Amino acid sequence: MLRQSTNKGNVISLLNPSSPISEVYKTLRTNVQFSSIDTPFKTIMATSAIKGEGKTTTVSNLAVAYAQEGKKVILIDCDLRSPSIHQVFSQSNHAGLTNILANQNQWQEVVRDTTIDTLSLLTSGPIPPNPAELLASRRMQSLIEELKQHYDMIFFDVPPVLAVTDSLVVSALSDGVILVVNAGKVDKELVRKTKASLEHVNARLIGVVLNRINRSERKAALQYYD
Ligand SMILES: Nc1ncnc2c1ncn2[C@@H]1O[C@H](COP(=O)(O)OP(=O)(O)OP(=O)(O)O)[C@@H](O)[C@H]1O
Ligand SMILES: [Mg+2]
Repeated sequence: MLRQSTNKGNVISLLNPSSPISEVYKTLRTNVQFSSIDTPFKTIMATSAIKGEGKTTTVSNLAVAYAQEGKKVILIDCDLRSPSIHQVFSQSNHAGLTNILANQNQWQEVVRDTTIDTLSLLTSGPIPPNPAELLASRRMQSLIEELKQHYDMIFFDVPPVLAVTDSLVVSALSDGVILVVNAGKVDKELVRKTKASLEHVNARLIGVVLNRINRSERKAALQYYD
């Protein structure tokens, strides 16, 4: 039954909360909590240098780990170019963030529930012609301020840093930024460049997740948890 609510096996924490992989995300949650003792982070973004390093997987599982702890969480798909949160959670994406930013909907009308009581989703909505502009808008800022009143934690999924400015724009709305690095795939120089870009806009980098993705490992993980 749980399997119906997910896709591609991305949200392992959701499929199997007691699995060793879920423990990894719980540890990540604990580390994030420890790095923000005085003023707890409310808004967190996971990004990476290039495509396909595991941003969506990391941020989805982290959001699930926070929700499983009883926190009221919303996960927002700010990858307005190639959105995938709706696919991860097998939800429709006919309306979402872009409709709110275009003043077509109130957030209450388009936020979706998940199989976890305290986890809500805001999918991207229709792909707009001007993603960076929408994400940098006042409407986006006021939306996040309003959501902060209703949720304990807000997580952002974004495009890679080196491709477009969107990620840097969303970092301005984030109390903390997690850098996901697929060590086997991305050149060190690109990671350095990404870190420099984030620092340049004063993003608060709170940690690096080394995400190893290769075919056999992935298959092993899926076989084990299927
Ligand atoms: N730790 C992991 N183990 C196994 N498979 C993984 C892991 N992390 C990611 N994957 C798989 O790798 C692929 C890319 O991951 P994901 O979509 O999370 O990356 P992304 O950085 O969000 O990509 P994009 O830049 O295209 O948005 C997915 O098919 C995902 O299921
Ligand atoms: Mg992604």
